Amino acid sequence: MAKHVYIKTFGCQMNERDSEIIEQLLAESGYIGVDDPGSADLILLNTCSIRAKAEQKVYSMLGQLRDEKIARPGLRIGVAGCVAQQEGEEIFRRMRHVDIVVGTQQIYRLPEMLARLESGESGRELAVDMHNDFAIPPFQKLLHGTGAAPSPAGGEYKKFVTIMQGCNNYCSYCVVPSTRGREVSRPVADILEEVRLLVGQGVREITLLGQNVNSYGRTNPVAAGPVTFADLLRQVAAIPGVERLRFTTSNPRDLSEELMRCFAELDNLCPQLHLPVQSGSNAILARMNRKYTVETYLDRVASLRRCQPDIALTTDIIVGFPGETEQDFEATMELLRTVRFHGSFSFKYSDRPNTRSADFADKVPEEIKSDRLQRFQSLQDEISLERNTGYIGKILDVMVESCSGQEAKGRTTTNHIVHFRSSRPLQPGDLVAVRVIHAGKHSLRGEPAPAAGQGNCSGKR
Ligand code: SAH
Ligand code: SF4
Ligand code: F3S
Repeated sequence: MAKHVYIKTFGCQMNERDSEIIEQLLAESGYIGVDDPGSADLILLNTCSIRAKAEQKVYSMLGQLRDEKIARPGLRIGVAGCVAQQEGEEIFRRMRHVDIVVGTQQIYRLPEMLARLESGESGRELAVDMHNDFAIPPFQKLLHGTGAAPSPAGGEYKKFVTIMQGCNNYCSYCVVPSTRGREVSRPVADILEEVRLLVGQGVREITLLGQNVNSYGRTNPVAAGPVTFADLLRQVAAIPGVERLRFTTSNPRDLSEELMRCFAELDNLCPQLHLPVQSGSNAILARMNRKYTVETYLDRVASLRRCQPDIALTTDIIVGFPGETEQDFEATMELLRTVRFHGSFSFKYSDRPNTRSADFADKVPEEIKSDRLQRFQSLQDEISLERNTGYIGKILDVMVESCSGQEAKGRTTTNHIVHFRSSRPLQPGDLVAVRVIHAGKHSLRGEPAPAAGQGNCSGKR
């Protein structure tokens, strides 16, 4: 009889992609994915450790699962992802009802680990070694998406494609280099093959994924000759059927002129970039080990806007980094006023294990962090609303994400969410020209533009 697996994913897109891979892998061992943990034989938490709160969430969810396990002793509980990598056996000590702990580079082992549990060969399974290598065959096979289960699941129109794992940047606050290991670029041929496969299955939008995509190809030889991220991007963009291409995340330090020019040259590269700046103070940036200055950042923003005047920029900000003074924080506010990001993700600093800043003096009190976060976010909201108001009256191509009754929702090339009413049913992936009629701080509202066929689907499906 088929078994049921419930996977809960926390954290970034890399974890989302890993969860898809895990689901695909477990399907080959007879597990069917379900949305209800109550009906699952296996509950797997794919976890994130980026901030203290993210980790606490995992432990509190595991705590809640204790009763479920008592009620259903046959239930298996597994922990994957960055908390699993970071904590290893400690998870078993704190949470005795957990059966499996599997690190970020060991997910391909899950089927054998489950088989050992099932056969009674072992009572608990732990795999947290790091091999820092894309080349080992099972991993490669998984990343190819060439398992028995179809990938993507029917009807999906946009997909992430992993181009590298790990990170060598060692920003002083960041847990990722320790939870994801060394930076390893995936071979170009494998990436192109996966993209072709996805496009052949009807996928129209591809997002290339890595913690620091701009350093693609630098740390290990990935092809016959040297290859930069811009080279890779051009090759992916040239694959027929890739209608929209995006990538994330870029470190400003490695954003080359060559890459910026891609925004001018490649029609299907969406005019949108997430470019985390973290702080507007050079003193703080130096302590964060970000290796760029505010001036360099502003220069790059100006170049980007020269290459692609319509580009929508988003960023990440940390407030209350150790030693951040009111003046440092004001510099971050000033940077926001200067760049006027379309949107941002902002976080209160928290200490993480195995990071240098955890040992820094001058920790900022919680109330001050909260106050700064609130001030930053309210200024960002104001700016986002002003920026979004600027789209009113424009006709934008919207790729449909969902459509329920007459209410449809989709995204522009700039990655803005647009809600609109459609007189006929639309499918995810359909392209509709929409005139923007209203702006909110987080989304736009529009109506199908008559010239584009009364809001009918202009896509191929
Ligand atoms: N690779 C990406 C970031 C990945 S982590 C990059 O280099 O930009 C996502 C965001 O989490 C970071 O950009 C940062 O803003 C935030 N973050 C990371 N560590 C943090 C910490 N210790 N406390 C608070 N926020 C943190
Ligand atoms: Fe973390 Fe810095 Fe690497 Fe991003 S670039 S994952 S913030 S160490
Ligand atoms: Fe979180 Fe790990 Fe991603 S710490 S942000 S899941 S790389």
